[in-house]
Amino acid sequence: MRMYDIIYKKRQGLSLSKEEIEFFVKGYTEGSIPDYQASALMMAIYFNKMSKEETFYLTDAMMRSGDQIDLSQIEGIKVDKHSTGGVGDTTTLIVGPLVAACGVPVAKMSGRGLGHTGGTIDKLESIRGFHVEISSEEFFRNVNEIKLAVIGQSGDLAPADKKLYALRDVTATVDNISLIASSIMSKKLAAGANAILLDVKVGSGAFMKDFENAASLALEMVEIGSTMGRETIAVLTDMDQPLGNAVGNSLEVLEAIHVLHNRGPEDLRALCIKLASYMVLLARKTNTLSEAEAMVVEKLESGAALEKFKAFIQAQGGELAVIDNPQLLPQAKYKKNVLAAMDGYIEAVKADDVGLAALNLGAGRETKDSVIDLAAGVMMLKKVGDPVSMGDVIAELYTNDESKLESAMGILNSAIAYTDQKVEKPKLIKAVVT
Ligand code: URA
Ligand code: CA
Repeated sequence: MRMYDIIYKKRQGLSLSKEEIEFFVKGYTEGSIPDYQASALMMAIYFNKMSKEETFYLTDAMMRSGDQIDLSQIEGIKVDKHSTGGVGDTTTLIVGPLVAACGVPVAKMSGRGLGHTGGTIDKLESIRGFHVEISSEEFFRNVNEIKLAVIGQSGDLAPADKKLYALRDVTATVDNISLIASSIMSKKLAAGANAILLDVKVGSGAFMKDFENAASLALEMVEIGSTMGRETIAVLTDMDQPLGNAVGNSLEVLEAIHVLHNRGPEDLRALCIKLASYMVLLARKTNTLSEAEAMVVEKLESGAALEKFKAFIQAQGGELAVIDNPQLLPQAKYKKNVLAAMDGYIEAVKADDVGLAALNLGAGRETKDSVIDLAAGVMMLKKVGDPVSMGDVIAELYTNDESKLESAMGILNSAIAYTDQKVEKPKLIKAVVT
């Protein structure tokens, strides 16, 4: 088999066979196929698309390109949640304890990565002492006893995807639905859960800017999961504006603690309850979604989920006092208020710009070596549909680097649109694909 012929075939719009796709994935992972041939193939796929079968073969080959995690030491049905990524998406910190309190094991492997804020691990590290460098024995023991543990990405999951995603990133070939679906699913499948819940974000702060594309991506991922024998559900949710109020690491931890105390922003709370309910259903703890929802709400309102969060933080070395005394979280030296520019209603809060403002304040990584300011970020106090008067505080900016305030203020101001007409609040959950 020759890589040239595979590129040529795809360039002509023909479908690749399972053997051809496996040849490419194996050769590219090993390094016998160079980047320039892989990029040519990605561009041919970008223009000519892939069939469902080709997408499935690509996912399967990438899943098998490295380690596949064996979670059989964990009792019960393991359900993994994956968000396609948004701005200020604090859900994992809340959904984890909620479903653990319902008896569903949550074995979370997380990375750090680039972004507007850090990943789940960076956020949790705002809690002094908390660490994810635990042995796999301790990880499995904690999941069995507490039902919730987080470990840093260990092993070599889907190395073919790691290489290919980096290549797509610099060759303008990321935004193809089959390539995204196979990229995400190869990693999720290799991570070993029995069932998968996907939170597919739609809007200005998401990969998928419009509903049709997001729905196609969701459908493709659900089909791949089912074909692989892992029950998969996708929930399409709004990411036109940030979720909740907080965008930043310690700010999001604080927000998660508020929600677990049965307070916190309504949109974040509602989405977390919905996602947790689908996970409880996928784990077969209940027969219907409404029973699952009742169970989740009970665990939230009774404080059982908060107790789970505490047990989890303590088991991984975190300072428990933080939960009742959040001033112990990293605090920013500088704070600046953003004021409403007119009387009226908030028409839009562009999530991508809010994310950019948070990144500028120091909340995220621009390169993999950047150091995160855990206290930095944005509190978005007004959201779409809220009435405002000129001069009201609509957002707060936090940072330890005073020189960053001015540019972040400019970005944040450009994220907001006003109108004098009443505006409907956007619908948070747009569709569910099963
Ligand atoms: N996230 C991924 O993991 N892969 C993609 O291709 C796009 C988003
Ligand atoms: Ca948030």
